[in-house]
Amino acid sequence: MLDSNLFHYNGRTLSCDGISLEELADTYGTPLFVTSAKSLADSYREFEHAFADLPHFTCYSVKANFNLSVIKTFAELGCGCDVNSGGELYRALQAGVAPEKIIFAGVGKKPEEITYALKSGVLMLKSESLSELRSINRIADELGTVAAVAIRINPNVTAETHPYITTGDSKEKFGVDEGELPTVFALLPQLSNLRLIGLDMHIGSQIFDPEYYVAATTKLLDIFNAVKDMGFPIEYLDIGGGFPVTYDPRKPATPIERFAEKLIPMLKPAGVKVIFEPGRSLVANASVLLTRILYKKRNHTGKEFFVVDAGMTELIRPALYQAHHEILAVTSHDQSVVADVVGPVCESSDFFARHREIDAAEEGELLAVMSAGAYASVMGSNYNGRLRPAEVLVNGSEVKVIRKRESYEQIIQNELC
Ligand code: LLP
Repeated sequence: MLDSNLFHYNGRTLSCDGISLEELADTYGTPLFVTSAKSLADSYREFEHAFADLPHFTCYSVKANFNLSVIKTFAELGCGCDVNSGGELYRALQAGVAPEKIIFAGVGKKPEEITYALKSGVLMLKSESLSELRSINRIADELGTVAAVAIRINPNVTAETHPYITTGDSKEKFGVDEGELPTVFALLPQLSNLRLIGLDMHIGSQIFDPEYYVAATTKLLDIFNAVKDMGFPIEYLDIGGGFPVTYDPRKPATPIERFAEKLIPMLKPAGVKVIFEPGRSLVANASVLLTRILYKKRNHTGKEFFVVDAGMTELIRPALYQAHHEILAVTSHDQSVVADVVGPVCESSDFFARHREIDAAEEGELLAVMSAGAYASVMGSNYNGRLRPAEVLVNGSEVKVIRKRESYEQIIQNELC
């Protein structure tokens, strides 16, 4: 299982790797993201173990959680990085990732970002269109260099997941359409400041069924064989990320081994290095979002609300994707209630759960919104003038603040009047 969940009850108190979440909230305030360093490392090692028989290079997709300490934890274990913007590249470099271990993606890279990536010496830029390849070629020429590129293929495979996070369908904006590929490969030799070293795909996120990977990899391998015959020296096949995690214990994620046992026999004969770009599966279950119950109230139908001090500004996934996140009382209770757990933001979509059975916690007590390590803090905002919360990393008995709580001064610092 890829869910190295290190949040457990110690008696009646929920703890992270043995450290009481109650104590962390008292010390650092709420809302608070708490991340387990051991859980991060365990997830990465489990992924590596599953694909150990395949020559590969894992690049953590930092968009899932771009905190410098999180990136650094993976980098220190030998992991590379997949970045999607100049900002993410900057973060990865600041976290100490070697540029030759960074791959640069993105459907709309600006010329400045291409220049930054080339000057930084990243392993490759993954291109998503002919126009972009021309742009990279021109910029590489101006810089007097040859750019190593991969082409992101749109395999036209519609993986079953939330419609907002399926990316391998040809009606989506991602990658080069299969109909366009012959033109691209025919023109490529004229773009003399490019060196095509890889083919790439990413079919979506939170994909439970390995068969979608099989279908897309079959297409990628067909293209690889054709391109090899044209004489392009492909060294890498990048099959993206998208591996699932368990958010809801009633819907357990497919173990990573099930993906490995299908993909390794397909990819090994290609004789190239396979790149993986897992994001969510390495980080989702390594963090919780701690929040305090401010008020409880009931409407005339008997419906109960728990108003908490975190909201969609810290975790937008329930509002955006109707995502399920488990909610645990930090101090467990014998009684439970059915309630809506809602935030303080002025939107009806600002909820963590609706009509959910949870422990009958009282005002002032803490709740932990589980699986908050991926696409939570990174998708946060200052909407409603909210301050971004603090984040702490639990590493054995050590607790380190890895992001300070934002201040009122910081939220206006770039404004002029
Ligand atoms: N590679 C590329 C090119 C990607 O676009 C993504 C995610 C990944 C790798 C990593 O995918 P993962 O292993 O994390 O599934 N905000 C959404 C997820 C958006 C995924 C975007 N791309 C959510 O909260 O569910």
